[in-house]
Amino acid sequence: MFLKPAVSVLLICFLCEVPGGVTPAPLAHEIGQPAQQQQDQDLSLSTSDFMKVKLDISREIVGGLAMADFTKITQGADELKKLSLESGWNVLTTPDYFRLSAEFRGSTDRLRRAAASKNIDGTTLAYFEVTLNCVRCHKYIRDK
Ligand code: HEC
Repeated sequence: MFLKPAVSVLLICFLCEVPGGVTPAPLAHEIGQPAQQQQDQDLSLSTSDFMKVKLDISREIVGGLAMADFTKITQGADELKKLSLESGWNVLTTPDYFRLSAEFRGSTDRLRRAAASKNIDGTTLAYFEVTLNCVRCHKYIRDK
């Protein structure tokens, strides 16, 4: 009687371990993906990779905000701005796209200035504005 619950707990724990074997599912999924991506590679991978860098930098900035690491935030703001000045950025050449890009750059400048002031609230707000500009441009692209 005393052992029983322990045994069932053991069993449950063992069963809990098994769903760890759920890993094969995502793995199979991951294996399937590169093959598909390889097909697209020539067409859009470089643009896609280029664009994904924005997300990596944004994550770095969030990390910087969480740790009040203003150097990291400043670096991120500079990298985002630099990226927006590269030719790979100009996927579209409409006046609206250029305006949205300019507004985005303006917000990275304000983020940089806010980080220089070392005011965490102001810097967080400035980062929100950058994010707002990410979303605005993506919304524009989707609605086009
Ligand atoms: C001025 C316009 C503009 C701004 C601002 C902008 N993007 Fe983008 N983004 C694009 C375009 C254009 C694409 C490519 C869309 C496509 O391929 O259909 C893109 C694609 C992406 C992708 C998808 C990459 C992929 O193919 O998997 C991510 C992620 C992304 N952007 C993140 C961001 C983040 C984060 C920000 C803000 C820090 C941002 N973008 C700001 C225009 C913009």
